[in-house]
Amino acid sequence: MSAEIGREIQRAEQLLRHGELVAIPTETVYGLAANALDAKAVLKIFEVKNRPHFDPLIIHIGEAEMLNRYVTAVPRWAEDLSNEFWPGPLTLVLPKRDIIPDIATSGLDTVGVRMPDHPITRELLKKLDLPLAAPSANPFGYISPTSAQHVFDQLGEAIPYILDGGECRVGLESTIVGEVNGEPTVLRLGGVPVEAIERVLGHVNVDTSSSSDPRNPGSLDQHYSPRLPLKFIDDAGEYEKERVGVIAFSTLREGLPIEHQAILSRDGSLEEAAVNLFAGLRKLDKLDLDMILAERFPNEGLGRAINDRLERASHKFSPQVVEVPSQTNENE
Ligand code: TXA
Ligand code: MG
Repeated sequence: MSAEIGREIQRAEQLLRHGELVAIPTETVYGLAANALDAKAVLKIFEVKNRPHFDPLIIHIGEAEMLNRYVTAVPRWAEDLSNEFWPGPLTLVLPKRDIIPDIATSGLDTVGVRMPDHPITRELLKKLDLPLAAPSANPFGYISPTSAQHVFDQLGEAIPYILDGGECRVGLESTIVGEVNGEPTVLRLGGVPVEAIERVLGHVNVDTSSSSDPRNPGSLDQHYSPRLPLKFIDDAGEYEKERVGVIAFSTLREGLPIEHQAILSRDGSLEEAAVNLFAGLRKLDKLDLDMILAERFPNEGLGRAINDRLERASHKFSPQVVEVPSQTNENE
């Protein structure tokens, strides 16, 4: 099989209704979608991504009103955030209804839900009138895709169709908010900056550090990683100038080959840098180099999420993290 890249919403709709996987565009990154209510179809997502079964999926809905079909309660904070940021790069973790199969949530009694902001995928969701389970459309642990071609490069042999919606407008995965000890808490930094969440809710806790917590693999220490080792420039020590790639915010470094440098925003815009981050990493990762060096970004707005992704990309794979657990129950 080799995936077709196209813009036919109807084709995507038919495949999804028949339990097949389709890559879909969102404003954050491309997703690998299946009908969330079909456990068998959802299982295929885990197989194609080589994703451990303990890593729960996000459910995508076309209308905010659909939320009540899939969760049992919407607390005030969740209502306020969805009113402000949906459609958009925000996922809410809420208590799930039984209609969502356990495999989609890795057996948790909560489910992550978001309403994506992409015209093609919103039309698809409206036609389907079904929720779509969709993780980022990359092999587990690798850099998320921000174009149809990125999806094709890695999953092209494994899925029938890639719905092409152009380049992703945000470029970072959604911000995830759930309850910890009864308080709304940011579980993953992403496309909605913490400052924006706090304008709605007041101070919120940020808890993305629980790396050993299987409930939140997006927060595993090692994730979002290129093939090449990645280090922050400040910690790099000795290196051979011809043999490194550089991820930089806005300025080129003299003395290093230009084609080995990815400048994420010449204007110094964090939004633009976010859009270009994953494509920049992929570009450098294709070159014959020893490692990628990254600048640290300003720790504010989307800069926090950019630093978070670079931080995780800089961690080495630890085997117990990437191994698929052997005793998962495939019939769940
Ligand atoms: O922007 C996005 O969120 C993209 C696009 C495709 O929508 N999706 C995405 O999915 O990033 P994925 O699978 O790469 O990340 C899902 C992460 C999980 O690894 C976990 O950290 C968190 O969402 N998550 C999902 N359900 C959860 C739950 N019930 N409780 C806690 N965390 C959950
Ligand atoms: Mg992912």
